Amino acid sequence: MRPRRGLSLLCIIACLSYSVILAIWYAVNSDRDYIHPILTQLIPAGHCACQTSTTFQCSTCLSCPDLALQQPTTPTTPTWKFEYPRDARNDTLDQSQCRVAFPGLFEDIARGKRHWRSQGGLVTEDLDAIPIQYGMARAFISQGNLHVVSARANGEDHRKKILGVLSSIHRALVANRDRADQRDIEFVFSVEDKVDDVTNPEHPVWVFARTPTEEGVWLMPDFSFWAWDNAFNYIGPYDQVVDRIQRLDLPWDQKIPQLVWRGKPSFAPKLRRALIEAARDKPWGDVRQVEWSTGANVLKMEDHCHYMFIAHVEGEFQPYSSKGHLWGLTADRKSEEVALTELVGRSYSASLKYRQACNSVIVAHKLQYIQHHHYLLISEGPQQNYVEVERDFSDLADKIEPLVQNTTAAAQIAHNSVKTFRERYLTPAAEACYWRELFEGYSSVWNSTVDVWSSRHGKERGLRYESFLLLPSPQQLEFRAEMAFSGPIA
Ligand SMILES: *[C@@H]1O[C@H](CO)[C@@H](O)[C@H](O)[C@H]1NC(C)=O
Ligand SMILES: *[C@@H]1O[C@H](CO)[C@@H](O)[C@H](O)[C@H]1NC(C)=O
Ligand SMILES: *[C@@H]1O[C@H](CO)[C@@H](O)[C@H](O)[C@H]1NC(C)=O
Repeated sequence: MRPRRGLSLLCIIACLSYSVILAIWYAVNSDRDYIHPILTQLIPAGHCACQTSTTFQCSTCLSCPDLALQQPTTPTTPTWKFEYPRDARNDTLDQSQCRVAFPGLFEDIARGKRHWRSQGGLVTEDLDAIPIQYGMARAFISQGNLHVVSARANGEDHRKKILGVLSSIHRALVANRDRADQRDIEFVFSVEDKVDDVTNPEHPVWVFARTPTEEGVWLMPDFSFWAWDNAFNYIGPYDQVVDRIQRLDLPWDQKIPQLVWRGKPSFAPKLRRALIEAARDKPWGDVRQVEWSTGANVLKMEDHCHYMFIAHVEGEFQPYSSKGHLWGLTADRKSEEVALTELVGRSYSASLKYRQACNSVIVAHKLQYIQHHHYLLISEGPQQNYVEVERDFSDLADKIEPLVQNTTAAAQIAHNSVKTFRERYLTPAAEACYWRELFEGYSSVWNSTVDVWSSRHGKERGLRYESFLLLPSPQQLEFRAEMAFSGPIA
């Protein structure tokens, strides 16, 4: 009898674990609106719901930036002040103007400098140690010109993002008339959303977003400031999206006094389900999931701005299925709208700033990823420019309800957000300033020479950006300057 009982116990355990695994799989992958709370608890947190978050002790950033950046830089125009809209599109501000205009914007560069100085600086060998994976590129700036050493893309999405980054760098460079006098630097960047997808956080890679513990990397503005387009839809340069949103935005008192969110819960399931649960059946909640097959509940980005409150959830960015179709959709009449909404709704490295283009209150859970402009987020006090809630959204109702009751305070938060982000720190002027400050900060710890000539191969070590741009796109996908053809045809 005994062995048999043991056997059936084993069987029960096996069946139970199988059901639990099945249940978790279902909870993670399901897009159904309602999932039993016990199942929601079981969803593994994965990358997206770690308990840590980036809470900056930085409410003073707007008024009181890093002191190291405050050293006198012999301001040529001591009385100059940044004025919107006069200076917003001016990408030629000089360094002292940039520092006057955008205090607090360069915090992460100062942090990177401190980190690498404590490591004894950066040398060529540090870059040689970095495997160039898909979505990465190595480049250098010599006498103010940008050269591409290598670039790897596993498809159009990577290729376009790499071109976007290179083009942004080129634009920031050529807007500086002193560029030829700047120190030469060499660097590696990644266009993947997450550092650990492609590299080790101890490498000095330029990335769009980092977690607080990823200290080796340097933050750069993302590709979508240049433009974000793909085969399925046209989004355009960020500043053009802002123009479009401004044209279509509503006066505050005509906005819907609700919290809007649209998306697909099976991406970043834990965070997204928590939001859906916290807003369920609330009069102030308009949180819905998009139905891909029918296109139901799709809401265009500019229509998000018609709500007083917009929820922001960090998430995974997976625009392409392995077959290269956008989320498995073919290009039908719906996909254009679907694409825009979902592109904007999924990537933490790009989506927040589109929401910040609206004159609305951004409601975000405590963020785990830092982007270059996040230091300017202020969650309380007179300069408050967004509403911060816990990562499980448990305090969402407590935070939203007073703001819905009396929307005067909410209007002020939205106004502060526009003043801080749309009209200042997310302008083309600020982007160009950030890039040049990054070149400068990185060069201050860069401790190698940058060779333009490879004596081993008897030719240039990098291809000038101007020429790289003209390559047929298949050659841009897997590019190594030392292998590429150069010189006149004999
Ligand atoms: C941009 O800023 C520079 C430096 O202040 C100034 O000389 C130039 O006139 C500005 N350009 C425009 C179009 O305002
Ligand atoms: C650069 O390297 C030299 C020698 O290796 C060292 O003395 C110097 O301190 C380094 N400079 C920086 C900025 O790390
Ligand atoms: C709403 O709040 C503002 C300040 O936040 C206050 O001045 C105003 O009186 C409030 N309105 C109502 C109707 O309570």
